[in-house]
Amino acid sequence: MLKTIQKTGQLAFELPQKWLDRAFGNALNPLRHLGSLTIFFLWIVLISGIWITIFFHTSVVGAFESVEYLTVEQWYLGGVMRSLHRYASDAAIVTLVLHIFKEFVFDRYRNARWFSWVTGVPLLWMIIPLGITGYWLVWDQLALYVALVSSEMLDALPIFTDSMARNFLSVEALSDRFFTLMAFTHIIGLPIFLVFSIWIHVFRITRPKINPPRKIMVGALLSMLVLSLVYPALSQGKADPALVPESLALDWYYLLIYPLLNYWPPATVWVLLVGFSLLICIAPWLPPARKTEVVRIDLDNCNGCERCVEDCPFSALEMAPRSDGKKYASEVIVSSNLCLSCGICVGSCPTATPFRTRSALSPGIDLPDRSVADIRNRVTEATQNLEGSRRLLVFGCEGSLKSKAFINAETAVVKLTCMAQLPPSFVDWALSRDLADGVVLKGCAHGDCQYRLGATWTRQRMDRERDPQLRKRVDAEKLALLWSEPWCDFPDTTSAIAAFRDTLNAPYKISDHETSARVKTRKHTFRPVGVALAWGLFAVASVVFTIWPRFSQLAEGNGIISLTFSHAGQRVEECRKLTQEELNKLPPNMRKPSDCPRERHSVDVLFSADGKVLFDQSMPPSGFWSDGESTVYYRMELPSGSHELFIGMSDSGREDGFDYSGQTEFTLTDGQHVVVEFDHLQQTFIFR
Ligand code: HEM
Ligand code: SF4
Ligand code: SF4
Repeated sequence: MLKTIQKTGQLAFELPQKWLDRAFGNALNPLRHLGSLTIFFLWIVLISGIWITIFFHTSVVGAFESVEYLTVEQWYLGGVMRSLHRYASDAAIVTLVLHIFKEFVFDRYRNARWFSWVTGVPLLWMIIPLGITGYWLVWDQLALYVALVSSEMLDALPIFTDSMARNFLSVEALSDRFFTLMAFTHIIGLPIFLVFSIWIHVFRITRPKINPPRKIMVGALLSMLVLSLVYPALSQGKADPALVPESLALDWYYLLIYPLLNYWPPATVWVLLVGFSLLICIAPWLPPARKTEVVRIDLDNCNGCERCVEDCPFSALEMAPRSDGKKYASEVIVSSNLCLSCGICVGSCPTATPFRTRSALSPGIDLPDRSVADIRNRVTEATQNLEGSRRLLVFGCEGSLKSKAFINAETAVVKLTCMAQLPPSFVDWALSRDLADGVVLKGCAHGDCQYRLGATWTRQRMDRERDPQLRKRVDAEKLALLWSEPWCDFPDTTSAIAAFRDTLNAPYKISDHETSARVKTRKHTFRPVGVALAWGLFAVASVVFTIWPRFSQLAEGNGIISLTFSHAGQRVEECRKLTQEELNKLPPNMRKPSDCPRERHSVDVLFSADGKVLFDQSMPPSGFWSDGESTVYYRMELPSGSHELFIGMSDSGREDGFDYSGQTEFTLTDGQHVVVEFDHLQQTFIFR
């Protein structure tokens, strides 16, 4: 089941990735840099955010005007910064979703990788509230909706005794203090947590790609800039608690779940969110990945050179003081819970050489079930029956070698866990021992190595830029490197291999498969039109779901009535005067004239319009001792027009009738928001 989902996801990813490969080339394809691209967009958000903060007024009265000033008066700079801030935030969600999708479908989230996966989930819980609080600060109509719905969500948690949502129902209730808290959360609190959490997220990865290549950064920034100039971000009219706009342009990237609150109670939405997050968290163990045997160290053959530690992509190796008394200063040790059995460290060990024949081929570090000795045996076996004068030995990694169409009497294949599991000396050995006339290394395209750095290390080792290097005596014309997308072969792998075979006897010539005369690799050229088109589409994708489809929060021709007040019910038992005898029994410092049991009655409220009961509930007292106020908060839609409204409340636990009531004839207009409150001084209800 999981395999089928992943396979389908891979196919869905393959097409755009191939298309973008054609435009950008493998190395500069943004789909191969999704994590770092997300970080880059967050940088744009941070820098543009600093500019906005300079001009932002942290108050109910000033917030909207200060953002309007930036947008209108300072459109050329402040307006652009505001648009960059908004659109880069949306772009970050687009790349983030693709990042999660890619890690999942290519199965890069299980085994030791669970750590990056699980630590990604809190990032979601930071980045989404960052967007939500950002929309809140603009204090336009969308902000009011966000404030109301967010507070309704928070009210469902057993944190606050009073209703937070009540603060946003009328102009009188709005407070600057709340605004300051929100600004602090958005500008300082959440960003600090986010940076720290991204650091933890990539903590276990060696050399994480934090920054995308420069050309991708330029493309990403330009696309956001052009978008900001062509379609500047605007506010949606100043927030007015007395009005409810019929529809809003909702940013679906950040506010996707908000409309659910029109249908479900907040508690259900919380269960959904928390449940979904927990499901993502346990995904690496649904089912657990097959655990392969991790690398073993053979201290007799380890000279402590540290190359394996340098090359391990998952921080699974470290150096420790020598424990066997040999002359070397250090030895390598393995953290088996971090090792993914990729074998990249084996390919980096200078002692993993097939030329060793006098002693057993036991390198300093090796995979027990796919050892170097086993690779040597398989090469010998696979090549022994090759025929002709253009015999090819193809080494391929598990990820990229799916087709066997090219295997024939002239071509043998040896599969490896990762291309970088192959020590370069194997190429030298196969050619110098005349086991083959040419060697092909077939790995995953740049940035798509299943083990992150395998393709990069292989390229550098064969290019003689990284130890262990391919020996100089190897004729580079006899080595070809073919890179392809993971899990799928080039349709032309067979033809590429056949073409390489032709070069063994003829002058080298393979179209579209070379970078240098020495190392041949599939390479797409950079195509500016395709690149511009791709970034253009990306910009459209970043903005389209911030304006479409519009969210209709109120049916046409309706208004809203909110019941909102806090009121303490009467005490369940009256205070009783203590007798002298009772007082004498108490310690002197605890003596008080009367005993007042703390528990209060629930507050029962009934609200009806035109004789139809719309709300009838009993609100229990808050507080641990049931001695606090009861809070009423309820929003309801009513058709506009004249209505006979009635509200009754009892706080004495009486069975029939009401202790307080209010009645009025009210004409509700389209989109009007009427608040029903209880005036404690006058002991009456107010409709406003
Ligand atoms: C603000 C949000 C995020 C950012 C900026 C981010 C960034 C990154 C970066 C830079 C890497 C290292 C890539 C590399 O060098 O190979 C990475 C790896 C990873 N990320 Fe994220 N990430 C985010 C959220 C998430 C989320 C929500 C998940 C999944 C729930 C996730 C899953 C992973 C996994 C599994 C890896 C490890 C890949 C590997 O071991 O090859 N990330 N992320
Ligand atoms: S097998 Fe891979 S993950 Fe394990 S130690 Fe070697 S390089 Fe690191
Ligand atoms: S690369 Fe080989 S020799 Fe060098 S430290 Fe690692 S195991 Fe030892």
